[in-house]
Amino acid sequence: MTTGFSEGLRARIDNIFARYPNRRSALLPVLHLVQRERGFIGPDDEILVAGLCGLRPVEVREVLTFYTMFRREPAGRRLLQVCTNLSCAIRGGGRILDHLRRTLGLEPGQTTPDGRFTLVEVECLGACDKGPCLMVGEKLHEGLTLEAVDKLLRESG
Ligand code: FES
Repeated sequence: MTTGFSEGLRARIDNIFARYPNRRSALLPVLHLVQRERGFIGPDDEILVAGLCGLRPVEVREVLTFYTMFRREPAGRRLLQVCTNLSCAIRGGGRILDHLRRTLGLEPGQTTPDGRFTLVEVECLGACDKGPCLMVGEKLHEGLTLEAVDKLLRESG
């Protein structure tokens, strides 16, 4: 349960506001900051961010549910984001996703019982000419093979 943002986080949010013509315009960077700080953006965070940005909570929810890079629930220690959009799909993104499903016993959106991995399917990772692509945490991996995915899983966690 969120009781408010820490003094440090509030100060960093205020620094972001100072760079924008109005608080509404700062919504995306503020959400990124809150997610980096908390690991996800929960319902209480939505309300706090809405209040700070001068928006209605439903407006914050609309943004959170539109962009796949925002998480509304805690993730495992390693977030695996598999791109299955057209360019990656043509180059085997679906095979990568199926392999991760079988190997980890997860469906997209689920986390392993040990909290090690969360698997999500995303629309695009911005490297469409280098697919299939997978992000492990903050690091993008391109041109993946199933063997490369297995190696990443062994090295992650
Ligand atoms: S379609 Fe996969 S990175 Fe853009």
